[in-house]
Parts: sequence; C-alpha cells; structure tokens
Amino acid sequence: MHHFDRIDGALHAEGVPLESLAEAVGTPAYVYSTATLTRHYGLLREAVDAHRDALGDALIAFAVKANSNLSVLATLARLGCGADTVSEGEIRRALAAGVPGDRIIFSGVGKTDAELAFAIDAGVRQINVESGAELDRLIAVASSRGKAPAIAIRVNPKIGAGGHAKITTGGATDKFGVPVEEAIDLYARASASPHLTPVGLACHIGSQITSLEPMEAAFRTLREVVLTLRANGHSVSRLDLGGGLGVPYHGQTDTPSIADYAAMCARVLEGLGVEAAFEPGRLLAANAGLLLSRVIQINQRASSAGEDGRRFLVLDAGMNDLMRPALYDAFHDLAPVRPREGERLAYDLVGPICESTDVFARDRMLPPLQAGDLVAFMSAGAYGAVLASEYNSRPLVPEVLVDGARWAVVRSRPSYDEMFEREPRADWL
Ligand code: LLP
Repeated sequence: MHHFDRIDGALHAEGVPLESLAEAVGTPAYVYSTATLTRHYGLLREAVDAHRDALGDALIAFAVKANSNLSVLATLARLGCGADTVSEGEIRRALAAGVPGDRIIFSGVGKTDAELAFAIDAGVRQINVESGAELDRLIAVASSRGKAPAIAIRVNPKIGAGGHAKITTGGATDKFGVPVEEAIDLYARASASPHLTPVGLACHIGSQITSLEPMEAAFRTLREVVLTLRANGHSVSRLDLGGGLGVPYHGQTDTPSIADYAAMCARVLEGLGVEAAFEPGRLLAANAGLLLSRVIQINQRASSAGEDGRRFLVLDAGMNDLMRPALYDAFHDLAPVRPREGERLAYDLVGPICESTDVFARDRMLPPLQAGDLVAFMSAGAYGAVLASEYNSRPLVPEVLVDGARWAVVRSRPSYDEMFEREPRADWL
C-alpha cells in the first residue's frame, strides 16, 4: 500500500506531480511519501497494540539502516517510533531526528569501544550483545563510565530466512548472534557483572521474509531460552523480535499480513510476561519511496545470427543510485510517469555505469518509451538511498519528502565543487 497514484494519467507522490518534482529537483531523485510512512507505522502499531496482553507496551524501533534520512526519521519519531541502530552515526541520526535515547536500540556485530561508550552516554534503551568478546569489552567500557546499561543477548537460532541468500542472518554459518547454549552462558556472565543489566534476548533471522513459519520457529526458541534463564534464577523482561517481514514488491501476493504477523508473535509470547520490541525497516519504508529517473536514450541492437536483438532503455539512474538489483537480483517495478499509448515492448533497463552489473531488469514489458520520458522505480524507500554511492563520480542522489501538496528537498544533490572539497589535495601535489 502506498500513496503514489495516477491523477489524470500522470503519477503523483500524494498531491505532488512527479513531473513538477523532476523539473524542480532534477533526476535521478528519491521521493518519499509521509502518508505512506505514517500509514505503515500506524498499521503495525495497531496490530501490535491489539495484543498488549502478550506483547506488553511494545516498542517499534525503525531499522535506521533501511532509510536514514533525517526527515524520514523525524516523521517516524513524531509518531512515537523508536530506532534500531548499528553505528554511532545511526545513533546520532536518531537523536538528531528527535528519537529519545530510551527508544533507541543499539545492535550490530562489530561495535567499537568508542561506539559502545557513545551509546552508554546517550542513554540508549538497550545494547544488543552479539558475542562473548563484545560482552567482555562492554563490561570494561561500562565500568569505565560508571554505568550499568541494559543489554539483550542476540540469539542465533540456526534458522535463516529471507528473500535472498545475501540477506539471511539467522543461519548457523551467519556471523550474527550466538547459539542458544552460549546465550545462556553470556546471560549468566552479564548478570554476574555489576556493570551490566541484562534485560532480555534479541533475534533477527533475515530480511524480506515471506513466510511466518521460520520466524515463529525462531521466536519459539527464544521463548525456550527465556524459560531456561528464569529456571536458572535470572530475570528476563524483554524480547526483541527483530525485523524482517517481507513487503509486496509489485503484485507479490505471498507476503503475510501485518495483523497475522502480530498475532503469531502474540501466540508465541503468550503468558511469558515480557515486553516485545520490533525492528522493522523495509516494512515501514520500502513502499514509501520511489526513485525518479529520466530516459537518456534507447539503444536498439539489431538481432544477428543466433542472437536476439535487444532494446536497452538507458536511464540516468544507475546501480550506484539503486544497488538492490545488482546486489540481490532484486525486482523493482518500473512505472512510466505518463505512459504513452501503444503496444508494450520488451526493454532491458540499464543505467549509465561502466559495469555489466548495472542492469536493473531484462525483458521488462513496458508501454513505449522515448528519450526524455520520466520513469519511477517503485518500492525504493528502503535500502535505496542509503546504499547509494558516488561511483563513476556521480553526485549522490537528492531526496525529497512529500506531505500532501507540500514537498521539501531533504537531502540536496551535492555540486561537483562540494564533492571535490571533501578531497583536499596532498600538500606535495
Ligand atoms: N534488525 C536487524 C538487527 C537487522 O540486521 C535488520 C536488517 C533489520 C532489523 C531490519 O530488517 P527489515 O525489517 O528491513 O527486513 N540491504 C538488504 C537488506 C539488508 C537487511 C539487513 N538487516 C536489501 O536491500 O534487501
């Protein structure tokens, strides 16, 4: 569900025509919808609150890695959303956007001492510890700050899931979290330290998950660990269930509903008396954004002996702007902003980058397109702009936030001078 609809044939972001945005800001550009972010947060909030008896006063902490734009974060912060962060930079962004420290979770497999110290001083809600080595360092850092921060141990349930092998995190060979036995041991070690306050467990098994079964199995494992810890005399009051719920990328119908997801979580946590936390990234942001791009030209290659001809739609957006197809063979629907009449044709969607992986899709059937036409990659609000780079010395894509009929550039496109200023010339050159 999103708020990018056609009005008189032309695609709009809420009340704003994409054609006028392209005119004002140029292309490529990311465009986000406030109404969609708000709706997605509201749907999850409502679904989770319907199970307050089992999930407690649950925190929804947006996974900042999915979209770290300050205005996007501020939009969610105003709704009461927290933040799941994985670096000092992300904690700083969440704080700057107005997320209070006690709604910030600090996750991540390799947090430095400096980052741990920063998180403790910022008063984050909890630090999710992912290894024994990290636990030891955290005890030392916390003791040096004279604090006893709340921590959760991230369990690796040996259940991986997700839309692609490269976005699975809960499998036995994945680097994230610790196996159950070790989690029990680390919890005991943390309890024995006066410098830590162990409050619970965390788990996140993958991303773009389209079946509730692996999640349910993982959460059942967490439940067992809670019971074991309690039998060992420990107190456990929180369970962080991670993110990972898949979203419909155009026409995909196999994604579980938010209500079913919340009901499943409640079923597993029933009677445990813990407070749940959720770390959705994609669920809140993916369909709240698109990447607006212009057709540079169409390169028509005639068929030759044994080879079909190809129709390359060369766009001004490249893999440096939207990495997901190159990284994970991800599908993004391409919507012509003002479709032309005529028979649909098969296009290979490519960017201008000098790499063979700079292909967004092959043989995509689209209405006829011409140089200068505007198109939009849909569902690009999560893991889009955050993964962008300046490869091939292309300026970072600007970001625009729309709210009804108003819009604002919430990250500007750097000028070439600004790009070069970041690279002071070595004084011997
Ligand atoms: N919590 C933790 C600890 C995570 O590692 C992640 C994502 C999330 C929450 C949010 O997951 P989500 O709800 O968005 O699925 N770049 C990839 C996705 C990588 C996800 C990494 N971790 C992509 O574009 O598909």
